[in-house]
Amino acid sequence: MRAQAPSPPTLPIGVFDSGIGGLTVLRALRVALPHENLLYLGDTARVPYGPRSPETVRRYSLRVAGHLVRHGVKALVVACNTATTWALDELSRACAALEIPVVGVIAPGVARALQETRSGHVGVIGTEGTIRGGRYAAALRDARSDIKVSSVACPLFVALAEEGWTDGEVARMVAERYLAPLHDGPDTVILGCTHYPLLKAVISAALPGVRCVDSAEATAQATATLLDSAGLRRAGDEVGSDRYLVTDHLDRFQRVGARFLGRWPAPAEVVDLVEADDLALPHPESAA
Ligand code: DGL
Repeated sequence: MRAQAPSPPTLPIGVFDSGIGGLTVLRALRVALPHENLLYLGDTARVPYGPRSPETVRRYSLRVAGHLVRHGVKALVVACNTATTWALDELSRACAALEIPVVGVIAPGVARALQETRSGHVGVIGTEGTIRGGRYAAALRDARSDIKVSSVACPLFVALAEEGWTDGEVARMVAERYLAPLHDGPDTVILGCTHYPLLKAVISAALPGVRCVDSAEATAQATATLLDSAGLRRAGDEVGSDRYLVTDHLDRFQRVGARFLGRWPAPAEVVDLVEADDLALPHPESAA
């Protein structure tokens, strides 16, 4: 007899990132949603997305997300700020046609920052792509027209986090140099990159008295809210499983991933992404 197809709530939540950094989001999801199954895909063959063109990030994101959709997921978390910046609109359109809700990291981080700020001046730090794309700044201004936003790209933070140089002199010097334009400015700073939560201590030290908003935690809360409102929360008290897929560098993912996740990830599998994975965008006329 054919096994019955699993009902949507038992399907995993698909989580993707350009590489390892999205594990900070997965870690927060695991805390907020202990009973959910999580399927993570890190595009470690193509990382970093930060310096790439919008078109390339969109193309990569539609393929990575499509691969997860082919596995069967009930919701998609775009656990990468650069992919959220350049591809969230397309991913949301493509997934809407499949009735798969999509959560990016920007809107939840913005909502949290607006709750936190007292002065109405918010800082945003992220990759070159995230800062160039300006989505954090636009979302902050859309929500509150009198908000002041100061944005700074901090690309070296990604390398520091991956090397494990998250404290000590080098990290401190880099943080001070990047964050100098934010001195005496914002009272709240959004950590708009998956890697930055690992550098929270040096970022806070460089910006004394400034609140750091971790988009990962805010995104996990937003995902929980979305699952509840869509009736997709998994019932029961069974502990959820984690499964990891990567497109390259298996050893490095296990080794460096442990720092991002706070524990050793379950053994990852290498997958090949192919053209057939690409998420199809609905024809503009059918979406109208
Ligand atoms: N995951 C990326 C982000 O949050 C950082 C690493 C990269 O540049 O791909 O923007």
